[in-house]
Amino acid sequence: MKKWLQENLVCPTCLPRHVSLDLEIREECGDDIIDGRLLCAACGTPYAIDKGVAVVVPAATQSAAAGTSEYNSQGMLSAYLWSHYSDLFNDPDATGAYRAWASLLKPSPGIALDIGCAVGRLSFEMSTTHRRVIGIDTSFSFIEKARNLLEQRRLCFDLIVEGLITEERACALSPAWNHERIDFIVADALALPFADHLFSTVSSINILEKVPDPLQHLREVNRVLAPEDGLLAFSDPFSWDASVTNPSLWIGGRPDGPFSGRGYDCMRRIFSGDAGVFTPSLHIMEGGAVPWKIRKTANLWEHITSHYLVGSR
Ligand SMILES: C[S@@+](CC[C@H](N)C(=O)[O-])C[C@H]1O[C@@H](n2cnc3c(N)ncnc32)[C@H](O)[C@@H]1O
Repeated sequence: MKKWLQENLVCPTCLPRHVSLDLEIREECGDDIIDGRLLCAACGTPYAIDKGVAVVVPAATQSAAAGTSEYNSQGMLSAYLWSHYSDLFNDPDATGAYRAWASLLKPSPGIALDIGCAVGRLSFEMSTTHRRVIGIDTSFSFIEKARNLLEQRRLCFDLIVEGLITEERACALSPAWNHERIDFIVADALALPFADHLFSTVSSINILEKVPDPLQHLREVNRVLAPEDGLLAFSDPFSWDASVTNPSLWIGGRPDGPFSGRGYDCMRRIFSGDAGVFTPSLHIMEGGAVPWKIRKTANLWEHITSHYLVGSR
């Protein structure tokens, strides 16, 4: 964890109170803390910094971060590294999805937050337009790899071909990306460890349908986004899964209930002030669809259409 990050953090367990975290360093390397912990003076919760990765989540999220959740698997790491970076190693099947999402953002002297950043591509893109960028995800494995890319300035990984057969892929990262401006931590989209209104830009890309309480995720976006000149880049396929999110909490995908109909239409209404989530409400500047691919193995692909909205206030 980079030292500059500390002043931006609050205890996620004490929310909505803003309690800053004390830093204890056991091992450091320049501006990076390799081993140590953050400690809440109010509730006493310690948050580990392990192998450079700060895990700043409430106790209930600890198991998703460290455990055997889907997003910590070797297969998911291969799939997401391909999805985020295959254009850089000139894979003929690569998409321009992350460049498309990055093009929705506008330059800002403020801080950008990439919620559910996975292995970091959008955060790297944001570093060309923002003073600071923080990428957060609950997957320790993704955040560890994203931090490895920050440090090595190079991608190298085993791409799954089939079963245990892999092939190495390697390439340099874009020289346009500003690595000093970025950091990645393990944090929960439902309890963001940041003070209100800290961010001039927030992205929520393909995460709404992946959290147990989508409305709480949007409330957290609203809380940390600047009330003036704040910009939200949102995108999602709305492929709801009852094993992830109880259908009573879906935003769309239902014939009845407070969010009946298609998710994209519900989100347009929520941006505009419905359900009192976004205060002030968001002016929709742009909307559309991004074609996106995840490559699981040489023979197994997911082709996804992710619908986006860009809102400003
Ligand atoms: C479908 S992936 C999308 C990743 C990335 N935004 C992209 O578009 O490539 C969903 C991501 O959300 C992360 N995630 C799931 N639940 C989360 C939570 N409560 N807080 C933060 N990240 C979460 C997963 O680990 C995964 O990286």
